[in-house]
Amino acid sequence: MCGIVGYVGPRDSQDILVSGLARLEYRGYDSAGIAVIDDGGSLAVRKRSGKLARLREALETDPIGRGTTGIGHTRWATHGGPTDQNAHPHLADDDRLAVIHNGIIENFASLRSELVGEGITFVSDTDTEVAAHLLARAYRESGDLVAAFRAVVDRLEGAFTLLAAHEDHPGLVVGARRNSPLVIGLGEGETFLGSDVAAFVEHTRRALAVGQDEIVAIRPGVVEVTDFAGNAVEPQPFEVSWDAAAADKGGWSSFMAKEVSEEPEAVANTVRGRIQDGEIRVPELEGLDDFFRGIDRVVVLACGTAYYSGLVGKYALEKWARIPVDVELAHEFRYREPIVSESTLVVSISQSGETMDTLMAVKEAARLGAKTLSICNTQGSTIPRESDAVVYTHAGPEVAVASTKAFVAQITALYLLALHVGRVRRSLPDEVSADATEQLAALPEKIQWILDNEQERTEQLAHWMADTRSVLFLGRHVGYPIALEGALKLKEISYIHAEGFAAGELKHGPIALIEPGQPVFVVVPSPRGSITMHQKVISNIEEIRARGARIIAIAEQGDSAVLPSADEVLRIPLASPLFEPLLAVVPLHIFAMGLATAKGLDVDQPRNLAKSVTVE
Ligand code: G6P
Repeated sequence: MCGIVGYVGPRDSQDILVSGLARLEYRGYDSAGIAVIDDGGSLAVRKRSGKLARLREALETDPIGRGTTGIGHTRWATHGGPTDQNAHPHLADDDRLAVIHNGIIENFASLRSELVGEGITFVSDTDTEVAAHLLARAYRESGDLVAAFRAVVDRLEGAFTLLAAHEDHPGLVVGARRNSPLVIGLGEGETFLGSDVAAFVEHTRRALAVGQDEIVAIRPGVVEVTDFAGNAVEPQPFEVSWDAAAADKGGWSSFMAKEVSEEPEAVANTVRGRIQDGEIRVPELEGLDDFFRGIDRVVVLACGTAYYSGLVGKYALEKWARIPVDVELAHEFRYREPIVSESTLVVSISQSGETMDTLMAVKEAARLGAKTLSICNTQGSTIPRESDAVVYTHAGPEVAVASTKAFVAQITALYLLALHVGRVRRSLPDEVSADATEQLAALPEKIQWILDNEQERTEQLAHWMADTRSVLFLGRHVGYPIALEGALKLKEISYIHAEGFAAGELKHGPIALIEPGQPVFVVVPSPRGSITMHQKVISNIEEIRARGARIIAIAEQGDSAVLPSADEVLRIPLASPLFEPLLAVVPLHIFAMGLATAKGLDVDQPRNLAKSVTVE
């Protein structure tokens, strides 16, 4: 939420900042701005409400002179509406100091009163402007920007990444972070800061992670990091595993279209290197093997799509590792005095690794003594660093706000975890392990089959349904979280009322929603798995069909029992029951994307949302 970029080096910073913001725009896109110390030594600022394109226009009509030090921001509004005035950077010290911010300063109201009392006039409604004036006040005392940060950070409550540049110090950008993300990029004679590596990956893949409660000062090719007390800190280096091309649209109509097409690869890359001699081995987990033997409970924490992947993972963990699993929305977990112990494994799932709700829940779990494991897609992000161990999903950068390829990669990683723990605990029969390993390896090809054979038809269906006002989704067992995910995707990008239900729950209330013509997607379990479950879902279909529902079934190839009951059948290849969700979700992702496209909506940047939600 909110993208931040900083640059110092020999090149003109303007293009670097704007192209960094373009790559970070998925973090927030209701306004954008940059501040540059130009070669004449003056601080120049341009900022506009609306998408980045508006800032680009402003820079064209009113250009900033060349300058090699700068900061840039793309905003997701928290305090104050998305106006030009509330856009970042915010200025202080007679417009010589520029500050950008990601997060929320919770005590901003009292700080603002204090500053107003000193005669300061505020020009925006943001919490950020408070930080700008506090920094300016502290800077005037010492003339040292790093010292000013040190004096101010402890006065701020809440979450922040703050970057500042001051006219007096060309060639210097200073930043600080608490509970919000910040990474450093190391170029040749130039240095970058970003909310995540996407901000600078086109220039360098060498990066440093900035820890919690640290202050960083960058100069061309030089980095100094200290903690809030001023002690030097050695930041952790890492190499970004993907290049800028991976985060480009590459000829696709949208990032979402590209990312759905990458679902086979996301699964394949997440499995790669984790099958040895036909067995699942996850080296990152081996350090926890002794702990796994004594676990009494697993708690999975996540939000949004990642939460639904956790719900799918529960079935696998309970079946293969024979451990009770609770899956919880991270924000609900944290505030209800949760019960975890030293033999609880807390698994967090987060594509971005920055979701504040999830981060805070992980911290709370660690405080209560649980062992924490992160399933994450973003190197250098905060949640893995706050966890005892991490299993990275290798889905590659995900840019579209609605998560797709990361979802299938998350389920894959959870299955790897379940198989690994099941083997260590000896709860997994060899033949089950061998079959599951084979099924995992075969998944990418099966997902590809859906993209090759069912995508066009699914898009066509979405097109015909462009005027639909409500869609329901039903599933049972592992199909239930898939129904929830299908509904969420449609809500997120099509702004259509959509709800997912457990098929068995239908008769306990939701069936009242069915009226003639109501479209209902039904995830039909394979008749080769539990025949009873298959029959029960067919009966559920009949119940709603009798009340006029229009049925779109997602069923495996060859399941003919579904034909008389469904208006449309979207086919998926054969797989063992636990692997069906990884296939059944693909048509639902395509459908949501197709419907949003048919309505003429921006599928990558849906209204009101941001990809990385770094506020609670
Ligand atoms: C936001 C996004 C969702 C995403 C959720 C969790 O709400 O809009 O698409 O599923 O955050 O994100 P995470 O990065 O933690 O997986």
